[in-house]
Parts: sequence; structure tokens; C-alpha cells
Amino acid sequence: MNTFTFYNPTKLIFGKDQLEQLKEEIPQYGKNVLVVYGGGSIKRNGLYDKVIATLNEIDVTVSELSGVEPNPRLTTAEKGIDICKKENIDFILAVGGGSVIDCTKLIAAGAKYDGEAWDLVTKKAVASEALPFGTVLTLAATGSEMNAGSVITNLETQEKYGWGSPVTFPKFSILDPQNTFTVPQDQTIYGIVDMMSHLFEQYFHNASNTPVQDRLIESVLRTVIETAPNLVEDLENYELRETILYSGTLALNGMLQMGYRGDWASHNIEHAVSAVYDIPHAGGLAILFPNWMKHNLEVNEGRFKQMAVRIFDVDPEGKTDKEVGLEGIEQLRVFWTSIGAPSRLADYDITDEKIDVMAGKAMINGEFGNFKSLRKDDVVEILAASL
Ligand code: NZQ
Ligand code: ZN
Repeated sequence: MNTFTFYNPTKLIFGKDQLEQLKEEIPQYGKNVLVVYGGGSIKRNGLYDKVIATLNEIDVTVSELSGVEPNPRLTTAEKGIDICKKENIDFILAVGGGSVIDCTKLIAAGAKYDGEAWDLVTKKAVASEALPFGTVLTLAATGSEMNAGSVITNLETQEKYGWGSPVTFPKFSILDPQNTFTVPQDQTIYGIVDMMSHLFEQYFHNASNTPVQDRLIESVLRTVIETAPNLVEDLENYELRETILYSGTLALNGMLQMGYRGDWASHNIEHAVSAVYDIPHAGGLAILFPNWMKHNLEVNEGRFKQMAVRIFDVDPEGKTDKEVGLEGIEQLRVFWTSIGAPSRLADYDITDEKIDVMAGKAMINGEFGNFKSLRKDDVVEILAASL
């Protein structure tokens, strides 16, 4: 293991009917509350009414920002920052999935920063202060409810980057599996692919002696693989939703990444793809990740063999490590296809036309990837294999 410091101050409030806790939490931070949400799913499923009714029971003034897009846009965060400044907002409540939470993080930091919010995303400036915010999560996927990361898209320049700072952890997050019952089948599948990808990103690292971390990641992956096929056919099953919701948070709250840095190259390439084509984040990952694996199999065949044997029960008898690793990668592809995830960029009508543009965007900060450092020609190869 490498040396590490673990820091995660988010209070996690998990389980049935926990919305009431807003009444305990919010008054600790202020009276002028901005509620941020997406394109209307919370109005259709009744959660919006419940949140507003709960806020009406405490002494707060509520402002609203609605319409946060999947792949949240800089311009929407800027609207939120304006509201915070004009209305003297002292607490923000994000009600939604990763996009709403990520947008809220930029609003919270942007409200306390004098320059352009985009500076924070491009790391021209580091957020040293932010308005406090909490979340009511409605979709199991990104882990944004219990981490400091945020991913923002600038449509004008076709750029999409991740950023974050120690001040952008939510103060609390309320996770009630019932609030995820209405997530449609396709978004449920995307969420599953995203959390699995987070686990794989962390599994592929170069540190030695990580047996506990390996087994933890393998156990969460095996559980998700066991649960997912049942959930996609039974969307209102409380226990299945509960398992997946907890898995998504655990997958990216830092608990499974102590003592090493995960790879994260597939995420970087995906962000470049969705910056140009605005496709769902996990749709891109389902297509790219197995091709990243094949491209890097020879970096550490033993690691891929371990994945194949321990996660996908591949029988290693009489096979080379490479053959076992390849079988594991194939099993992952078969599993994602079986639950309904896409497997080719062509599924989103993406051709080879902009491969060079996407690879260029992925390279914006130079070579990347901690398991294997990728150059532009590697990225082009992975994208070409994904067509
Ligand atoms: O906008 P509404 O109407 O609310 O609908 C949303 C949206 O259309 C819908 N939805 C959410 N909860 C629902 C629901 N529909 C019915 N019932 C519910 N309970 O689902 C759609 C997708 O929502 P979104 O928030 O975009 O999904 P997700 O949570 O997958 O977030 C994706 C974004 O997170 C970023 C991605 O790049 C992408 O921009 N990521 C953020 C990370 C982080 N902060 O740590 C890490 C990830 O790797 C990822 O990059
Ligand atoms: Zn992701």
C-alpha cells in the first residue's frame, strides 16, 4: 500500500422514510434555502411535494433552481450562483441524481468565488470555500452523494471535466431506496454500469499488498452482478434497490480506494466522448471499459486473471493468464449486454469522424491513467476498437 489519509465528512442518512431528518439538519446551516432539481422526475413521483412540505414545517425561505440537465451544464450552475448571490442563500439542497448534485457543488463553490465558475472546473482556481449543501439522492450511480467530485459540461466549448475540493463534500445525504423506485429501466442499468466502472477503475492500480481492498471491491462487484439482473426486471423491489443504492455509494466514497490511486483513464475518455456527443455517462463506459481492459491486458496479466477468477468464476485450469484475463473481460461484456447496456459507439450513431477530436480532448492535460499511462495513440486505438 502507499501512504494515505482518508477524509470524508459527509453524514450518511440511509433507509426508509428518512426525509424527516431535513428538519434536524437544515436549521444548523441557515434559513435561506435553494432547492436544486432536474427536469421534473421529482415532480412526477411526488418527492418534490414531500420535500417542500417538510421544508414548510421549519422556519426557512425556499428558492428554487429546476431543469438541471443530465451531464449538467456550466450555464445552469451559473444561474444557481446568481440566485445564491441575489437571494443571500445560506444552504443548498440538491434533490436528484449525480447531475443535480454535481451542479449543486459548482453552485456552492461558485457562490463563494469571485471569478468565473469555469475556473474552478478547469482548475485554474481551487475552491477554498463553499456554501454548505445537502442532498436527497434519487438515483444510485455516481457516488456524488458522498464524495467531493463534480463533473460539469461546457456546451459552448464541448468540454466536460471533473473537479472537486475538500469543501465540496455534502454536509449530509439522505438515501431512501423508495426514492429510486421510479428510476426507469435504462437509467437503472446506467447506474449499475457506472458503479461497476468505479469499482473497476479502483481495482486496476499499481500498488502492492492490497488484499483487503481487493476482496472488498470483488465482493461489492459480485453483489452488484448478482443483484442487477433481478432489479432490472423488478424496479420497485425495496431490497434490491437498497442493495444497489448502498453499493453505488460505497463504490465511490473513498472507502475502497485507500492506499493506492485507481486508474480512471476510462472515465477520462468517456468524459471526452460525452463532451462531444452528450451521451449518458455510463452508456459510454459500458462501451469503452472492456476495450480499455483489452488494450491494457499485457500490463499485468495476473491482475486480469484475478478479476476473471474471483469476480466471474472463470476456470483457469490449463489456460495462460492472458487467456483467463481475456475470458474475464468477455464475461464482463456479456454481463453488461445481458442487462441491456450498449456495447458499441455505433449504438449512439457515433462514427470514426470525430475520433481525433475526442482523443484530443481526453489529452488536454497530457498523458493520463495510473495503471497504464495512455498517450494519444492509445486513446485513438481504444476509441477505434469501440466503434
Ligand atoms: O432530470 P430528472 O427529471 O430528475 O430525470 C433524471 C435524468 O433524466 C432521471 N432520474 C433521476 N432520478 C430519478 C429519475 N427518473 C425517475 N425517477 C427518479 N427517482 O435520471 C436521468 C439521469 O440523471 P443523472 O443525474 O444525470 O444521472 P447520474 O446520477 O447517472 O449522473 C450522471 C452525471 O454524473 C457524472 C456523469 O459524468 C454525469 O454527468 N458523474 C459524477 C461523478 C461524481 N460526482 O463523483 C462520478 C461519475 O463517474 C460521473 O462522471
Ligand atoms: Zn462514473
